[in-house]
Amino acid sequence: MEKSAIYPGSFDPITNGHEDIIRRGANLFPRIVVAVLENPRKETLFSTAERIDIIREIFKDIPAIEVKAFHGLLVDFARDNGIRILIRGLRAVSDFEYEFQMALMNLNLNAEIETLFMMPSAKYAFLSSSLVKEVYRLGGSVEGLVAPYVESRLREKFRRG
Ligand code: PNS
Repeated sequence: MEKSAIYPGSFDPITNGHEDIIRRGANLFPRIVVAVLENPRKETLFSTAERIDIIREIFKDIPAIEVKAFHGLLVDFARDNGIRILIRGLRAVSDFEYEFQMALMNLNLNAEIETLFMMPSAKYAFLSSSLVKEVYRLGGSVEGLVAPYVESRLREKFRRG
């Protein structure tokens, strides 16, 4: 019986779609480690520390959900943490190619680590962090798409009243 699963991603910022997968994942596994990619070559709106802080704040009442940064290969992070399961959300056919490649590459790197895919709730099937940032930056509402705390952090970033 597996005790933990990793839910990796950039989370720049975490959306309600991510939150939905994490909460549903936590119904299946006693512990979910949300692994936040730290990639100096990828420019993000929120720093790694900020992205971690936001996710921790959202799940502060759920001890089964841990948040950690990772860099380098995901399978190495999984091995170092003694975890064999990776969870990824699969929103649409457009996600499939990239996710398929990544899952097979990870399997090739470490055959003991499995990727499990979960479908998002239908209401979040169109949602992505990049769209949230774009909509917010252009003055649109992201209510219902991100947690109120995320919205407040976006407001702070874009200094919008
Ligand atoms: O939220 P994202 O940006 O779709 O998440 C992508 C992520 C972080 C899961 C992926 O980029 C990743 O695992 N990066 C770590 C580097 C790695 O292990 N690469 C080889 C697997 S293809």
